[in-house]
Amino acid sequence: MYFNILGKSLVVLSSQEAASDLLEKRSAIYSSRPPSTIHEMIGWADMLGFLSYGEQFHQQRKFFQQGFTRQGCFVFRPSQLSQTHVLLKKILQDPKHFYDHVRQFSAAVIMEITYGHKVTSDDDPYINIAEGMARILTEAGHTLSIIDFFPWLRYLPSWFPGNWFGPLAENAAPFIKHMRNMPFEQVRQQMAAGNAAPSFMSMQIEELEQSGGASLEDLHTLKVASSQMYAAGADTTWSAIMNAIAVLYLYPKAQRKAQNELDKVLGGKRLPDFEDRESLPELEAILQETARWRPTTAFGLPHSSIADDVYRGMFIPKGTTVLANGTAMSMDDKVYDNPAEFRPERFLPPQSEPLPVNISFGWGRRMCPGRHLANASVWIVIASLLAAFEIVPAKDDKGQDVIHEIKWLPGITSHPAPFPCMIRPRSSNAAQLIARL
Ligand code: HEM
Repeated sequence: MYFNILGKSLVVLSSQEAASDLLEKRSAIYSSRPPSTIHEMIGWADMLGFLSYGEQFHQQRKFFQQGFTRQGCFVFRPSQLSQTHVLLKKILQDPKHFYDHVRQFSAAVIMEITYGHKVTSDDDPYINIAEGMARILTEAGHTLSIIDFFPWLRYLPSWFPGNWFGPLAENAAPFIKHMRNMPFEQVRQQMAAGNAAPSFMSMQIEELEQSGGASLEDLHTLKVASSQMYAAGADTTWSAIMNAIAVLYLYPKAQRKAQNELDKVLGGKRLPDFEDRESLPELEAILQETARWRPTTAFGLPHSSIADDVYRGMFIPKGTTVLANGTAMSMDDKVYDNPAEFRPERFLPPQSEPLPVNISFGWGRRMCPGRHLANASVWIVIASLLAAFEIVPAKDDKGQDVIHEIKWLPGITSHPAPFPCMIRPRSSNAAQLIARL
């Protein structure tokens, strides 16, 4: 679909074929980002996710690609596993607040991986940074807003009715400086004292130093790249985990199947570890189907074209904003048989419907560089939860199941609104396994 909104071109791609044709096969044209006035005002338009195609983009992207290859992510597994165990204990003690516990898990993992900082309490300064960023990101949004069409609006005084962007930018600016500098300085001090835990930041600094020394410019680029890890990685991972929990609540048969499979592999004697993944195809299919049925990022991030182009006889002018509509792609009946149905078997042999990888993680040169890390976090949390707990409907005063239709909330990431479920240990043995962690 093509829209012209007050002189700005917008194309929405609703099939995987069109997205692949343009965003992957012609990625030399379609890998920029549209400028965003609100992100400029806030002072973080220099972060990779918002950068247009160019030198800065290449430099930041290189840090991510070096740090988060499929194999490179193995070094972060101990952090993911230990934070998963913290999560299990919290859910055992206080199952009602599982929403918050999963949110803290996602923030803690990212902070430990990025800066080597181990979060030990819920009011940790790094968690406050993480939550502050999530708030700003949600308020700012990521596509076009009114100030992109009427840039002079940014000069309105803060008190002017309807001016949400001025106060947002004013409040955010000092916070952004703090959240970039504080963790960076701490890692530098720890490295100088020889007690820095391995992290994305310390490993990249070491790499720079080994390849001829880290210039001030390199360090600044690394500081900016690292500061975006939370913005890009925590809310998305949280949403993906919450989507899976909601799906397991809605589809108890799928839940039982995955639990039976886990029981066969683990024998009820231990909790899962990453090495078990290949032995758990049912669980894999459930996670694939969840990513298709409820894509975490329905529209990903906007791409922008840097040259005029013609596709299937249609002219697409330079500077067009291009959105990939993940929801339409995942419900495309030319690709998926009966797409509205939640059916993990579609990804198990002998069937072979196309895996929904790009729907969740984006396209071409802008494809999510944190996908291997995110995928591992979601997997270890869901595998561990299913091994130890069951997710069942909450009970009303008369002891009857409260059956609830789940509402999915719109936003940069899509996740379920709170729903009345109980997460309880599957057995006393399962509770003991967690208590012994
Ligand atoms: C389930 C969790 C995640 C999902 C669903 C997700 C999804 C996405 C999507 C759809 C994009 C835009 C791709 C495009 O423009 O075509 C993206 C970009 C990005 N993601 Fe993720 N992501 C997740 C986790 C992470 C994590 C853990 C990290 C950090 C390591 C991360 C870092 C980034 C960065 C830096 C970008 C910007 C890339 C660029 O503009 O070149 N993401 N992600």
